[in-house]
Amino acid sequence: MCGIIGCAGRDGETLDVLVHGLSKLEYRGYDSAGVALSADALDVCKTAGEISELRAALEERELSGTVGIGHTRWSTHGPPTDENAHPHLDCNREVAVVHNGIIENYQTLRDELSTAGHEFRSDTDTEVVPHLVEDELRDGHAPEDAVRRAISRLEGSYAIAAVVAGSDSIFAARNDSPLVLGISDDAYYLASDVPAFRDHTDRVVYLDDGEFAVLNGDGYTVTTLDGEGVEKPVETVDWDPEETGKSGYDHFMLKEIHEQPRALRQCLRGRVDELGGEVDLGDLGDLSPRGVQFVAAGTSYHASLYAAQLFRQAGIPAQAFLGSEYATSVPPIGDALVVGVTQSGETADTLSALREARRRGARTLAVTNTVGSTAARECDHALYIRAGPEFGVAATKTFSSQIAALNLLALAVTSVGDAREVISALRDLPGAVQEILDDSTAADIAETYRDADSYFFIGRGLNYPVALEGALKMKEISYRHAEGFAAGELKHGSLALVTENTPVFAVVTGSDEMATKTVGNVKEVEARDAPVVAVTDGASDVERYADHVLEVPDTHPRVAAVVANVQLQLTAYHTADLLGRSIDKPRNLAKSVTVE
Ligand code: M6R
Repeated sequence: MCGIIGCAGRDGETLDVLVHGLSKLEYRGYDSAGVALSADALDVCKTAGEISELRAALEERELSGTVGIGHTRWSTHGPPTDENAHPHLDCNREVAVVHNGIIENYQTLRDELSTAGHEFRSDTDTEVVPHLVEDELRDGHAPEDAVRRAISRLEGSYAIAAVVAGSDSIFAARNDSPLVLGISDDAYYLASDVPAFRDHTDRVVYLDDGEFAVLNGDGYTVTTLDGEGVEKPVETVDWDPEETGKSGYDHFMLKEIHEQPRALRQCLRGRVDELGGEVDLGDLGDLSPRGVQFVAAGTSYHASLYAAQLFRQAGIPAQAFLGSEYATSVPPIGDALVVGVTQSGETADTLSALREARRRGARTLAVTNTVGSTAARECDHALYIRAGPEFGVAATKTFSSQIAALNLLALAVTSVGDAREVISALRDLPGAVQEILDDSTAADIAETYRDADSYFFIGRGLNYPVALEGALKMKEISYRHAEGFAAGELKHGSLALVTENTPVFAVVTGSDEMATKTVGNVKEVEARDAPVVAVTDGASDVERYADHVLEVPDTHPRVAAVVANVQLQLTAYHTADLLGRSIDKPRNLAKSVTVE
């Protein structure tokens, strides 16, 4: 986690560029922030709290320097205090370092450095880096060499940027944490993610693990950590800087919920031929798997549970695994395709599962939103969900787009009944979501149950992952207890928790046997006085047992659940809004979780 920004070549504007860039990276962490500018000496300002606190602190300071680095933090070592905020400095205040990741051998290094007389001011793992650089400088190495040598002593994951007083360069390196360079005609940037500098340039160079970059006002170089030159392609990002703003919505989350119809259309564009019933996903190689294993975390895991059902329905054995559990009990891979589903493409748990799968000889596919992400580059193939940038920590439009993309994948590699019918349902999906956005009464439901003790979500089949997702969204942003269940499982214990103060959201679409059984489960909670909110297309008679209804347009069974999910997103959003929560940046969380 954490967000890093660096800027060279914007004399007089460096500080503004850094702070603006940090505000675009706040989704990666927001418990403390800081900047360091470098010229003959270093100027540093850092503080606990969000970027707004840093801005306030900067009003009382005048920082100058020709190059600079900045950081917004999600704590791993030590609480969010001024001292633990990055940048971290050496004893002489001549080296400043920002870092994203975890340095696994930091305790050994810290002990060694302390014994040698270095004084530490923070609890962080990062602080060993400036002290290591300090030693190398004292031994007579030039700044670039000193930083390289220091970094080569680190074990673990890092994206690091450093400045040294008296040098006009920024030094940066990556291992297992993202880092991208931004190239414009007269200035150079580096960041954990493109939005940090997208207002200044659309040309980017993605660094790979083991690479080292030097940036100054005249240009940039990329080498290996050992100093061997590396040719890096300059790529162009294809989304607009406008997409990084809130466009008049109160929160990114609400904006992103409303962007779903467009995101879904983008996902499908040019990929489906409705008449021929064909799907074209470009060059994904020969994907005719005998089995599929999905690996993912959080919301992406719920999308994976959904996708695994689609594949099983088509007769292909498929399972979804939490990335964090996969490595400890890897199931036999055989001819299975391992699919990493990850919005960011940087989730450490998912990357680690994908790497384990590759080590065991599996073919891997990344289903991701982020072009150039680690997952996209490390997997054999990448399928982009094309949802556009998502800044709210709560994943919304990317869940819907993941499901659309995974439906396309299922169509492309299996024969699932009538492909034309499914394609037509996918084409109708944006319109169905728009209907909900136009007519939803989720705000009233949120108001009715704003004081509930706990929220339950139930569903079967494809509605089961949506029940899990509805609960995750609710707890993540409202800080209220919420739980999702397979509808049939409730009676095996958790029903004991159901009271008149536990609203149960029952996701029931269609009128098949599963729907009928879920209605039976709804009766069970109703009999225990729980208020029932039916999220339904009206095809079953669940409404008879419900206190409220959140309507879902009539759609194909393969996509109905994802449409229903939009009602749950809105319910969670309005509940959190009524409770005055920090919706886009919920406490303790970050958008991109790059640590295990
Ligand atoms: O970037 P990823 O899709 O790999 O992220 C995985 C989870 O961290 C993420 O989906 C998380 O659960 C969401 N913030 C939930 O809204």
